[in-house]
Amino acid sequence: MGFHTTFYLSYKLRLLLLFTLCLTVVGWATSSYFMGPIQETPKAKDFITNFKEAMFWGKKNTPSNKASVKTVLESCPPVSPHLRGQDKLIFKPDLTLEDVQAENPKVHRGRYRPEECKASQRVAILIPHRNRERHLTYLLEHLHPFLQRQQLEYGIYVIHQAGSKKFNRAKLLNVGYLEAIKDEIWDCFIFHDVDLVPENDWNLYKCEAQPKHLVVGRNSTGYRLRYSGYFGGVTALRREQFFKVNGFSNNYWGWGGEDDDLRLRVELHRMKIIRPMPNVGKYTMIFHTRDQGNEVNAKRMTLLHQVARVWRTDGLNSCVYKLLSVDYNPLYINITVDFWSSP
Ligand SMILES: *[C@@H]1O[C@H](CO)[C@@H](O)[C@H](O)[C@H]1NC(C)=O
Repeated sequence: MGFHTTFYLSYKLRLLLLFTLCLTVVGWATSSYFMGPIQETPKAKDFITNFKEAMFWGKKNTPSNKASVKTVLESCPPVSPHLRGQDKLIFKPDLTLEDVQAENPKVHRGRYRPEECKASQRVAILIPHRNRERHLTYLLEHLHPFLQRQQLEYGIYVIHQAGSKKFNRAKLLNVGYLEAIKDEIWDCFIFHDVDLVPENDWNLYKCEAQPKHLVVGRNSTGYRLRYSGYFGGVTALRREQFFKVNGFSNNYWGWGGEDDDLRLRVELHRMKIIRPMPNVGKYTMIFHTRDQGNEVNAKRMTLLHQVARVWRTDGLNSCVYKLLSVDYNPLYINITVDFWSSP
């Protein structure tokens, strides 16, 4: 009898304790949600979601709660069930960023993660950019659903070079890497030209044991590799692979050479470049003329002869830039840098 009373009391006490704890937690979560600084919002939101999920644990049989019961997501399958294969790409002349935003309600601050499973990799897409708004709109329109069909967790970074001096694609990509790793422990980096749109979603935007070159062919070359050893357009390197080769060289101003430089760095480290099948690695190149400020780099051959000698001191560890802004737009993270007045 005495045992029974004790049990009854402690049960009541436990309920009371649990209730107080819940109140405290809800109070804290909602107050930081409404009053915390903007950067804290996603964290608070996550917390509230997890908290709600925990609350629903007890009510397993309520059909409306079934989806939120899973606190630990299962890994996504090795092959996504959403892949469609070769796609006919359409570029609507009057497409706006607002249209693309409306088509992608699940993308927030340039990032997405599948709801139904845990993605196998966290992938950062880095796009160097200057004065190509039209191309960027088309690329974002195709890339967001493409990556979502592959069930990836991803973020899209657009790295914009301010001013009108010569364009430096490689250095912009170094900046993208250095800034992106401040946001997240990305597993994989995709270095992506703004004017190349993938046609086949079996071309997986994931990293492998070896660096991967994704552009086997493009419509402008009759879908053939531009030349043997070509490593440009779109490439995928793991965070550690890119770090190991000290990233790109910072010394390629204007068009050409920087991608061959990266290939040499990769080869110097005894890594081997892999590619998807030709029918999968297909891209459409959106037509344009060569931009002003991106003239062919006449020094590129000289630079290419020095790679083995300079890669240790020219790259991620020597990338100096002035960060002008980082904006978390709905569809991408926009990083603006200036290379001409060092910080
Ligand atoms: C490749 O396709 C794009 C988009 O349809 C088009 O603008 C471009 O002219 C094509 N290039 C060639 C060489 O066919």
